Amino acid sequence: MNVDVDGDTLILGIETSCDETAAALVMGGSDIVSTVVSSQVELHASFGGVVPEIASRAHLELLNPVIARAMVEAGVRDDRIDAVACTIGPGLVGALLVGVSAAKALALAWDVPFVGVNHLEAHLYAAMLEDPSVELPVVVLLASGGHTLLVEMREPGRYRLLGQTIDDAAGEAFDKVARFLGLGYPGGPAVEQVAHEGDPAAIAFPRAMRNEGLDVSFSGLKTAVLNHVRDHPDVDTADVAASFQAAVVDVLVVKARRAAAEVDAKGLALGGGVAANSALREAVLDACMADGLRAYLPSRSMCTDNAAMIAAAGWHRLRLDGPSPLDTGAYPNLRLTSTEPT
Ligand code: KG4
Ligand code: ZN
Repeated sequence: MNVDVDGDTLILGIETSCDETAAALVMGGSDIVSTVVSSQVELHASFGGVVPEIASRAHLELLNPVIARAMVEAGVRDDRIDAVACTIGPGLVGALLVGVSAAKALALAWDVPFVGVNHLEAHLYAAMLEDPSVELPVVVLLASGGHTLLVEMREPGRYRLLGQTIDDAAGEAFDKVARFLGLGYPGGPAVEQVAHEGDPAAIAFPRAMRNEGLDVSFSGLKTAVLNHVRDHPDVDTADVAASFQAAVVDVLVVKARRAAAEVDAKGLALGGGVAANSALREAVLDACMADGLRAYLPSRSMCTDNAAMIAAAGWHRLRLDGPSPLDTGAYPNLRLTSTEPT
């Protein structure tokens, strides 16, 4: 299937990798025509985390209405859509399969290309979607519930993995600490809210691997929080939350600055759910100011899972690689690999 990919190419993006059912229409890889996100947070909250079977079932029920709403909000008919892009991984296999099956069925029915998108690559486009004037190369700090990566983006579709977590992801650490402190789910926003009332310097939690390299580790920090609370049952929860958050932010910002200096980047961009954290955003702004870097901080709704970033990544993938085969599956452990020599 030959496709001309240009500024008028309108792509329907679909995202179902975890607990958000999302659809969006994006033109030319950067112009968001409509974006709809239906969160399942309330369905999973009482379980303290995402329950895969519940997520798959909810995606099944929600996806068609969410796609319909994205089309109505955009005011376009299905014959205007040029391609359907969908997350093929990483994520929960049952949840991914709902989106992949729907995307392939729509692409077949409308006779347009299907484009499989790596969810992690899509997060890299969040900053560019909101600020098309991004000057490359940038270092993107992608911190989500499942991943923590530092990526150098030289141009769309060309990137180098510079560092990553060797154990827990930053969001996972927020979620686990929140659960332990009884702050509820999802953990990141809950910890952030409580941390406002606490002293970030109250407890000196460890900052693993802070002074060397670009990889990070949060598993020891999580254990240190647990041990501290067990040893000091009367400790102020707000101080624990604020001190934990300060340790995560400190390590992420030190590593991101080091990465930007090593590759001579022009700017630093954020992506992934943890990038919605105000303390992290402020620290990144300060660091960029001090280092003469441009800071790209996507809006909070663009940091967390959405389908606009999937459609944007789909536009670039279609331009660079053409359509994906219809026997493409769902890949729960899909990784982000460098397209450039490391
Ligand atoms: O990118 P995302 O929406 O989904 C994944 O692809 O994982 O990220 C979700 C993660 C969760 O771990 C959540 O606790 C964290 O992002 N998160 C935050 C905040 N908002 C969401 N972490 C810290 N502060 C926040 N404000
Ligand atoms: Zn995500």
